[in-house]
Amino acid sequence: MEDELLSIKDAALRFGVKYDRLRRAAYDGRLITTDNLVTPAEVERFLREGRPRLTVGPRREGDPMGKIVAIALVKGGVAKSTTTLNLAAALTERGLRVLMIDTDHQCSLTFALGVRPKSSDENLYTVIHRYITDYEPTLEQAIVRTNIGADLVPASIRLSTMEDELLHATQRELVLKSLLAPVVRRYDVILIDTPPANNHLVRAALVAADQVILPMEADSVSLESLALTLANIHRMRRPGLNPDLRIAGVLLTRVQAQTNFHREVMDVLQSDFGDQARLFSTQIKNSVRIRESLASHQSILTYEPKGPGATAYRALAEEVLHELGE
Ligand SMILES: Nc1ncnc2c1ncn2[C@@H]1O[C@H](COP(=O)(O)OP(=O)(O)OP(=O)(O)O)[C@@H](O)[C@H]1O
Ligand SMILES: [Mg+2]
Repeated sequence: MEDELLSIKDAALRFGVKYDRLRRAAYDGRLITTDNLVTPAEVERFLREGRPRLTVGPRREGDPMGKIVAIALVKGGVAKSTTTLNLAAALTERGLRVLMIDTDHQCSLTFALGVRPKSSDENLYTVIHRYITDYEPTLEQAIVRTNIGADLVPASIRLSTMEDELLHATQRELVLKSLLAPVVRRYDVILIDTPPANNHLVRAALVAADQVILPMEADSVSLESLALTLANIHRMRRPGLNPDLRIAGVLLTRVQAQTNFHREVMDVLQSDFGDQARLFSTQIKNSVRIRESLASHQSILTYEPKGPGATAYRALAEEVLHELGE
C-alpha cells in the first residue's frame, strides 16, 4: 500500500532491524518521518542508501533564471561556505537548478560536500588556467553533481597560485564572468563562494555577480570587514566592470544570545550601513547541528529537516529569491 504509515517500532519489527537504529535515523533526518510515522518505501530507501533523501523539489518550469550571487566578506569564518551550501540546498529543495562555484583554495565548500577531486580532475584552477592561456571557456568540464542535488565547480589547493597567474592576465576581473557565460542560462541560481580576502578571484566574483550576500558575525571585526567589503563592491561598480552589482543583504550568522553587544552591532549596522545594504530579516543562530551537518557532508536541510537551522536557511532562500525578483 503506497500510503501506508508505520510507527517506527512497527517499521523496525517489519524490516527486522533494531528500533534504536531507525529512531536515531529519524532524529537526525536520515530517515524522513511525519509525526513519527514513516512509509515502508522510506524505510527501504534508508536501509538501502543509509543517507538522507535528496531534498530536491519538482523542477521549476520555464527558462532558468540565470542569476549569479556572490557570497563575500573579507573576514574569515563568518559562514560564507556554510551559507553557500545550505542556501544551495534550500533553493534546490524548491526545484531550482543551482550551481555552486568554490573559489577558495582552502576548498572548505568542496570538502564539506564530500567532494575529493583527484589531482587529474578538472576544477576551477584548471579551467581558469586554460582560459588565461588560450581563452577557451571550459568551465562545464569541471562541473560535478553533489549529494545535496546542486552542481559544483570544485576548488583546488592550486588556486593558491592563481593570484600570481592572474596578475599578468589581461582583463583578469572578467575571468569568472567569461567562464560562466556559456553555462549561466542553464541554472536558476549560481552561488559563488569566495575566500576571506580582497584578491583577484574575489574581485572577479564580484564582477560576475548580479548580487552579493554579505554574511557576518555580530562583532566589531566583522563590522570593519563589512566596510572594507562594501568599498571593494563599490570599486567593482566602475563602468566596464559591473555597474549594476546589487547587494542582496547582510546576513547575521552564528548568532549567540541577543546580548546588549548584539543590539549595539545591530544599531551600527542600521546607522552606518543602512543606506548601503539592507539586513536580511533571517538570522542564522549558532548551532552545533549546523557544524555536525557539515562534518557529515550534508546540508542542515537533510541533517535536521525540521530544526531551526533548516527553517532559517529556507527563509533565507525565500528572501534571496525575493531580492532576485522571483
Ligand atoms: N550557524 C553556525 N553555528 C555554528 N557553527 C557554524 C555555523 N555556521 C558555520 N559554522 C562553523 O563556523 C566555521 C566557519 O564556517 P565557514 O567555513 O562556513 O566560514 P567561512 O566564512 O566560509 O570561512 P572562510 O572565510 O575561512 O572561508 C566552520 O567550522 C563551520 O562549521
Ligand atoms: Mg569559506
